[in-house]
Amino acid sequence: MSTRQGAAIAAVVAPGLLGVALAGCEEPLQPVSEAPTLLAEAGDYTAWARPKNREERQPVVAPHGGFVDTYINDVVVADLAMVLPEGLAEWSDGATVVLAGYDAMEGGSLVQVAVMHKQDGVWAWEQYDGASDQPRFAGRPDVCVGCHGAGEDFVRSFRLPDPPKK
Ligand code: HEC
Repeated sequence: MSTRQGAAIAAVVAPGLLGVALAGCEEPLQPVSEAPTLLAEAGDYTAWARPKNREERQPVVAPHGGFVDTYINDVVVADLAMVLPEGLAEWSDGATVVLAGYDAMEGGSLVQVAVMHKQDGVWAWEQYDGASDQPRFAGRPDVCVGCHGAGEDFVRSFRLPDPPKK
């Protein structure tokens, strides 16, 4: 193996090792491919706005804990308020959506926190078990991207603004 190849492989493997170290013995489905930053940057997301169709906790079949509270940052709020002749084709850079998954419709325990954040036109993802600060997934895991590809610009629970009705 050339030195250059070795360096390239090391660069790919190193963040993976971080994931393994963080996850402990329980091997995650997908390595943590990037150092987690999104949840920390989100701060107190429970003070954020909620999408109109997700103002209350919602029972879901998605792999997100059974009952979810969904929070949107200012960028998403501004996008949702946009009225454009052709509607909005994609969410703006800086958009962040945080999902808190619970095991009950009322009260219950926090079983999962999931975050998606758009930067330079690309979504990054993080998922945590309960209130843990060690991510189970971080970066651009295929598992998140694959299923969320079914949504409008990867968002599954609410839609991009349509063109105004004629
Ligand atoms: C099998 C499909 C599936 C997989 C895999 C999946 N999600 Fe989701 N996710 C959904 C669905 C469906 C919703 C909408 C739930 C609702 O109706 O409120 C959702 C909601 C979310 C939301 C709230 C914003 C939105 O799109 O509605 C976030 C954030 C999120 N998921 C993050 C993740 C992350 C991070 C991963 C990977 C670790 C992941 N998801 C994997 C199906 C999936």
